[in-house]
Parts: sequence; C-alpha cells; structure tokens
Amino acid sequence: MRRAVLFASFVAAAWCANADSPETKPGAGGPPPIPPYQMRAMLPAGDRLTGTKDGAALFSNRCGACHLAGGMGTNLLTKQRMAAGLPPESGLLANRKDLTLAYVKAVVRKGKLAMPPLSRVEVTDAELDAVARYLAKAGE
Ligand code: HEC
Repeated sequence: MRRAVLFASFVAAAWCANADSPETKPGAGGPPPIPPYQMRAMLPAGDRLTGTKDGAALFSNRCGACHLAGGMGTNLLTKQRMAAGLPPESGLLANRKDLTLAYVKAVVRKGKLAMPPLSRVEVTDAELDAVARYLAKAGE
C-alpha cells in the first residue's frame, strides 16, 4: 500500500513538473515550426515527360525531403563540408556555386554513397534537366 501511494505521488509530481514545462503550456509558443524538408512544393502540374517545368519547384518536390533545410542529405553534406573547412550554408545544394549539369545528373542517376540512385520513374529525364539547370551554377 505504502509503495502504491509513493508511486502515485511520484507520478503526480512528474505530471506537474511536465505540465509546467514550456512545451506543454497552452499558448506558450505552440508546437515547434515545421522544418523546410517536411514542407516541399507540390509537383508542378503538366506532363512529366515534357521539359517546361519550374526547376526550383521540382527540386523542392523531388529532392526536398533530403535536400531542403533539415533533410538528411543536407545534414550529411553540411557535416562533410564543414569537416573540409567549407561554410555550413554550402550543405544546401541550392547554395552551391560549383555544381555542373553533368555532375548533378550523374549523381541522381548513379547515386553517391548515402544517396540512392533515382530512376526515370521517380525523376523523368525532362524533370532532371530542369532540376540540374536550377542547381548547376557552374555551367555544363
Ligand atoms: C533519399 C534522400 C535523397 C534524395 C531523395 C536525393 N538526395 Fe541527393 N544526396 C543525398 C545524400 C544523403 C547525399 C550525400 C551523399 C554522401 O556523401 O554520402 C546526397 C548528395 C547529392 C549530391 C552530391 C553533392 C556533392 O557535394 O557531391 C547531389 C548533386 C545531389 N545529391 C543531388 C540530388 C538531386 C538533384 C536530387 C533530386 C532529383 C536528390 N539529390 C535527391 C540524399 C538524397
């Protein structure tokens, strides 16, 4: 019996402590903001086989789960680049100035270490063209 009372008071104390924490107070900031990688753009409307799409929206939709802020690709690349003495912002592919069309396309089709290769069903050639044109600030 004494044990049960002790346990009940422990649970009550833990509950009270929790109820006082800022996360659970109603109106105290609410839930944390949704990270960008969970807020990808919609897939642009239209035929996926024709190349007239918006590269930025396509990148967000097809690559964003890993390559927008907070995504596992961004986290991994940020860690690698910081270890190489490069600025953390360069972990976001959209901030890179050194990517070429050929490199982006090769990585997407063949994969690279922790990045899986993406098939032409997941990203059509026309979509990949638009995404690569959006990312490749270093040209061909
Ligand atoms: C399932 C998650 C995932 C998706 C989806 C994904 N990537 Fe990646 N990507 C990664 C990871 C993880 C890495 C880092 C690989 C490593 O070094 O281990 C990476 C690396 C890259 C790199 C190499 C960067 C460098 O510095 O060498 C490029 C380019 C790239 N991704 C482009 C894309 C594009 C374009 C898309 C969409 C068409 C895409 N990725 C979709 C996870 C993903």
